[in-house]
This record gives sequence, C-alpha cells and structure tokens, in this order.
Amino acid sequence: MRVLCVGSPFPSGTEGLLTSLDEHNHNKAVSGNMYIVLMTTCGGVHLTSKLPYTGFAKVYDEIMADVPYDRWLDYIGFLWSAHGFSPVSVLDLACGTGNMSLRLARSGYLVTGIDRSQQMLEVARQKARDEGLYISFIKGSMEDFTVDRQFDAAVCVFDSLNYLLEAPDVQSCFKSVFNALSPGGCFVFDVNTRFRLSTIPTDTSIYQGPRYFVVWRDSWDERHEWWQVNLTGFLKCNGVWSRFDEIHRERAFPLESLSDWLEAAGFVVKGIYESNTLKPASETTLRAYFVAWKPGS
Ligand SMILES: C[S@@+](CC[C@H](N)C(=O)[O-])C[C@H]1O[C@@H](n2cnc3c(N)ncnc32)[C@H](O)[C@@H]1O
Repeated sequence: MRVLCVGSPFPSGTEGLLTSLDEHNHNKAVSGNMYIVLMTTCGGVHLTSKLPYTGFAKVYDEIMADVPYDRWLDYIGFLWSAHGFSPVSVLDLACGTGNMSLRLARSGYLVTGIDRSQQMLEVARQKARDEGLYISFIKGSMEDFTVDRQFDAAVCVFDSLNYLLEAPDVQSCFKSVFNALSPGGCFVFDVNTRFRLSTIPTDTSIYQGPRYFVVWRDSWDERHEWWQVNLTGFLKCNGVWSRFDEIHRERAFPLESLSDWLEAAGFVVKGIYESNTLKPASETTLRAYFVAWKPGS
C-alpha cells in the first residue's frame, strides 16, 4: 500500500492533530491547514489494527531506552540465588523485542523467548542476529502455550502479565508455565499493582524522534478496572510517514489472588517482593515480584 502524505508532517500543529484523533476518524489527521491521509503499511505491518505492539514495535526500544533492564536482570539473579536456584535454561515469557532475553543470553543462559507479537519478535530476532546470540524466539500466547522441552526457569518482566485481563487467562498462563518448567524450576515475574495502575494520571505524552512521532494517552477505567493507553503513532519508513493506532490495557489482580492461582497451578510461592528488595510486597507496592517454585528435584 502507498502512503499519501500531503504537507510537511510533524511535529508542527500537534494540538490540531490531537483533536482529530478519535476512534471514528482514525485514518485521517488534520493539523491546521495540513490534511494528511495516512495509510496502513510499514515494513509489512498492518498499522490500523489497534492490536498492541504492531506499529509500536518499530519504536519500542527507542521509547523504552531508559527502562532499567540491567537492574532487573541483576535483581532476578539475586532472587534466584536468594532462593537457591541456579538455572541454565530460561524461558522469557512475553519477551517483546528481547531486551531481557538478550541480557540473559549474554550472561550465559540458554534462552527461549515467547511473545504474541510477530512485530516485536522480528525486532528481537534481528537484535540477536546482530549480536551473534543464539536465542529461540517463538510466537505464542502466554495464556496458552506449550513448548517442546522443559526449562529450569521462566521469567516475565515489565508488567507483561498485566496484559492478561481476565482471571481465567492468568490461571491458564500459570498452568502453561508450570508445564514448561522442569521439576524444581522457578518462575519469577513482576506485576504492576492495582494501586500503581489506578494512580497513573490521566494525561497525554508525546514521544518523538527523527523517524517517529507518538501520542500516548493514559487513562484509568474504573468500570473495567484497567489502565488503558491509546497510542497514535507516525513512523517514517522509506521516506514516507505511516500511521498506527493501538490500544494497550493492563489489569492488576490482587496479589493474594495471583498467589492462590499460582498454588492452584501447582507452584509453591516462595516470596512476593517490592521491586529490587526482599521486602514483602503489599497492595501499595508499585511493582511486585513473585518467586514461584515448581516442587521437585
Ligand atoms: C511491556 S511489553 C514487555 C516486553 C518485554 N518483556 C520487555 O521487558 O521489554 C509487553 C509484551 O507482552 C506481550 N504480550 C501481551 N499480551 C501477550 C499475550 N497474551 N501472550 C504473549 N505475549 C503477550 C506484548 O506483545 C509485549 O511484547
């Protein structure tokens, strides 16, 4: 598909642009006297799907450049050793563009990543190739996946588990992870708490770089109990701008429910901690880390 782009696009006229970005007019942007018809493909990505991590995959790493992955890697290593785990093989659930997978692989672990987004996986695979790292990246849904081998550990970071919006999906995710682990294996994951999600201010942020412009709108939906981010992005690809629209939603279940569901799946919950500490998490924690053990040798 072609992109018809009349006028010089961004970032001038942002306010006019924002007012025209609504659910019913999502392939047109009007900014001052600039009328832009933005079409739908960039590198094979269908950009108007509203599915999360389609177009956003192309700018994810740039926008998340300050995310403390190194600290999280250290903390995961610390949690493993604090609980007597010394894994060799690790499954990175909802691995995204592989930011944790690559770090784990560089540290010497045998890593497999799973994610639902083909676009995120493509970025992850390219990064692994560029570094000459062997990591298997598989497309799959965390709520229902099977793998052809068992792992010593599974991790799931950066509130990816919060993307599961219904209790049965979280329960079935825990069962899938349990089956994917060897006896004695462990599952470490983080979640945003409800306290954290419900106190994110309703606001609009702009992210921009030479080849992208992203409008990020946060809101808390009390009825559904989820945090929603409406993303509208513009990507410059082969000299033309394309638009994507995505909706991201995160829901936080009570820590006690998560703990019960882990145990129902067969895990023993070893600890629930405030991020970067061994302090027990509470409902006013922002990011909580779970350490769950699959009983066995
Ligand atoms: C916030 S990103 C985190 C990615 C990666 N863990 C990181 O730390 O950069 C959330 C990821 O979860 C993935 N995701 C969301 N729902 C999923 C599902 N049901 N199954 C598998 N992956 C999912 C998205 O595609 C996205 O890559």
